[in-house]
Amino acid sequence: MKVCMVGTGYVGLVTGACLAESGNYVRCVDIDVEKCSALNNGEIPIYEPGLDVMVSRNAKQGRLKFTTDISYGVEGADFVFIAVGTPPGPDGSADLSFVMEVARQIGRTITTPTLVVTKSTVPVGTTLQVQSIIRSELEDRGLDLDFDIAFCPEFLREGSAIGDFMHPDRVVIGVETDRARESLVRLFSPLTGDENSIYSMNIPSAELTKYAANAMLATRISFMNELARFCEVSEADVEDVKRGIGSDSRIGPRFLNPGIGYGGSCFPKDVKALMDSSAKKGVKMSILEAVEQVNLSQKTLPVRWLKEIEGEDLSHLTVAIWGLSFKPDTDDMREAPSVEIARELTESGASVRAFDPVAMDKAREILGDSVTYGDDGYGILEGADCLILATEWALFREPDFQAMKDLMAKPIVLDGRNVYDPEEMEEKGFIYRSVGRPRR
Ligand code: UDX
Repeated sequence: MKVCMVGTGYVGLVTGACLAESGNYVRCVDIDVEKCSALNNGEIPIYEPGLDVMVSRNAKQGRLKFTTDISYGVEGADFVFIAVGTPPGPDGSADLSFVMEVARQIGRTITTPTLVVTKSTVPVGTTLQVQSIIRSELEDRGLDLDFDIAFCPEFLREGSAIGDFMHPDRVVIGVETDRARESLVRLFSPLTGDENSIYSMNIPSAELTKYAANAMLATRISFMNELARFCEVSEADVEDVKRGIGSDSRIGPRFLNPGIGYGGSCFPKDVKALMDSSAKKGVKMSILEAVEQVNLSQKTLPVRWLKEIEGEDLSHLTVAIWGLSFKPDTDDMREAPSVEIARELTESGASVRAFDPVAMDKAREILGDSVTYGDDGYGILEGADCLILATEWALFREPDFQAMKDLMAKPIVLDGRNVYDPEEMEEKGFIYRSVGRPRR
């Protein structure tokens, strides 16, 4: 089938490449000329394992093209996906200007009936607005095209987006007509294997499903983080509690890891956007307010630990941070806890050094020269008074503890991701803190 993907950001690029990989002919449209020519040469602007190989392979085989010309993109397309950003506005609401502009352009350029699918995460009601815009543009052109509209959310995790797309738990589609449903089932059933994992519903339900999934996951994380605070003062071990509740099939074991809070491009933005759009309809989401509040204060937990150990004045300290991206296997720094930690430390006068295997360039754009960047994890430990583990990259999981101790001025390790064993750390002579586990 022929697919046009408007927007080659994270979601558009992964979706476009994966749809080409599953045998479709995909034209990706973006306004950025340099980005399109780089992509046509197989250069990928983001770090996502496996994506570069997939883009080059499909580009070489002629199934994946990048263009700035939307008229060429939509020509003869069976599907036109809208996958542009919906960044948060100052009040937390999703900024829909890119989505609406793309809708106008689609209305101005399509010449044959097609199925327009919103893939961007949008508030309930937006896809129907997209439909009205396209309709009115077509009317202006005097064209009576029988196009369909749908919403199809993405559930891709950065770092494992290709696996998530090619082997989804489920595909959710919001449609108005049988024709649209059948087309989307045809497009996605090679990925799900059968039709049973494709959940078809009306468009508003699908739009809300996307927000609800992220808000539910964020809620689980903040719940565990709040529970961890109680564990810290009650000798309970949050890791044991996690196993205890996660083995209940009604709860399930995933997304219960306590830590220094969630970040990234989706959870913080979507929680705020859902609160905003429900408030506009008179429904206050009190649970989500608490979820967000817990998350914000959780991000700087390691700084509070350090003050407990060293006192309020941190100005004499050198602190090393391992990991800067919001989670491993990505260079994404959006809403990363490391940013808040580094800011609070530098504001307190501490010297901060940091190392991340992939995200250093992006971190520099945000933190600038307030932080010293090292070439490896051990280098930044030399003479440091404290190490904060902010992101659980695999290479930090089994470090040479003796080398660390030898390098550091003080053996303080603040583990924001519960990666190390408290007993082992104590035996090795570290002053060690982790999230919600008893102190020894
Ligand atoms: C998320 C959703 O999982 C995905 O379906 C959606 O499309 C986009 O948002 P992503 O942001 O890539 O994906 O990351 P994810 O792996 O879900 O982690 C989100 C955040 O939660 C990270 O900051 C992570 O550190 C944190 N997290 C996750 C926890 O603190 N505890 C957990 O148990 C799981």
